[in-house]
Amino acid sequence: MPTTFELNGKIALVTGASSGLGTRFARVLAANGAQVVLASRRVERLKELRAEIEAAGGAAHVVAMDVTDVDSIRAAVAYAETEAGPIDILVNNSGVSTTQRLADVTPEDYDFVFDTNTRGSFFVAQEVAKRMISRAKAASGEAAPRQARIINIASMAALKVLSQIGVYCMSKAAVVHMTKSMALEWGRYNINVNAICPGYIVTELNEHHWETEGGRKLVQMLPRQRLGMPEDLDGLLLLLADDKSRFINGAVIAADDGFGI
Ligand SMILES: NC(=O)c1ccc[n+]([C@@H]2O[C@H](COP(=O)([O-])OP(=O)(O)OC[C@H]3O[C@@H](n4cnc5c(N)ncnc54)[C@H](OP(=O)(O)O)[C@@H]3O)[C@@H](O)[C@H]2O)c1
Repeated sequence: MPTTFELNGKIALVTGASSGLGTRFARVLAANGAQVVLASRRVERLKELRAEIEAAGGAAHVVAMDVTDVDSIRAAVAYAETEAGPIDILVNNSGVSTTQRLADVTPEDYDFVFDTNTRGSFFVAQEVAKRMISRAKAASGEAAPRQARIINIASMAALKVLSQIGVYCMSKAAVVHMTKSMALEWGRYNINVNAICPGYIVTELNEHHWETEGGRKLVQMLPRQRLGMPEDLDGLLLLLADDKSRFINGAVIAADDGFGI
């Protein structure tokens, strides 16, 4: 029986849509029928992406959001729902990294990484989920309640400790536990919460590194001596966004070409 992913009528909020994986996630969700809301701080970039999605026949909206600022998160989610409608799918993707040995980490480095990757993604998910939960309560008793999805972008670094990015690994390990806690509490409201743990994917976060000697050596250590591209996550993203994944909840899925084995 052939199966396709079907996101027509769904509204998806993508944080960190201004570059890298977030841009790709937004393009793919829109190309498969979702109306997307693009969120991050660099609004000019989001507007360019909106124009591109609209030119391809999709629907997109833009909202400024700084995930380190809870007021900004609340205002952005409220705006997103006013502009586009109730959010069905959250791709909780904004993230940052720093590189240094643990002995050299300053309180500022630590807060920079945790404020975005852990605290930020928690409060984005919480704000979106509060609204999903009230709608689920209002619809309780309906034969086919609307399904909701939260997809947290963690990292292979949440599962396997990597040198020089210890604080990043810690921040993403917290996102894995956060995913399971949310899945446990919010599953009863038809909110499925899952995490994707990407391996090394070429984006602005790391593209400079692959040109260095250290970067080239690292690629040689990978099981298939290759890096991923953002499109390598398309299938997993669509599966977790689609209603067909209703039995997948609290899963932490590596998409790392086998690096974590
Ligand atoms: N690339 C990889 O190899 C890889 C591997 C595993 C996991 N990941 C994870 O995947 C996610 C995306 O990474 P990427 O590689 O696409 O990196 P990227 O190209 O550097 O993009 C990061 C995104 O996060 C947004 N962001 C950063 N700080 C923010 C803030 N305070 N408020 C709102 N948005 C913020 C940025 O938007 P603005 O600057 O416009 O705000 C940008 O759109 C991250 O969570 C990263 O940890 C990446």
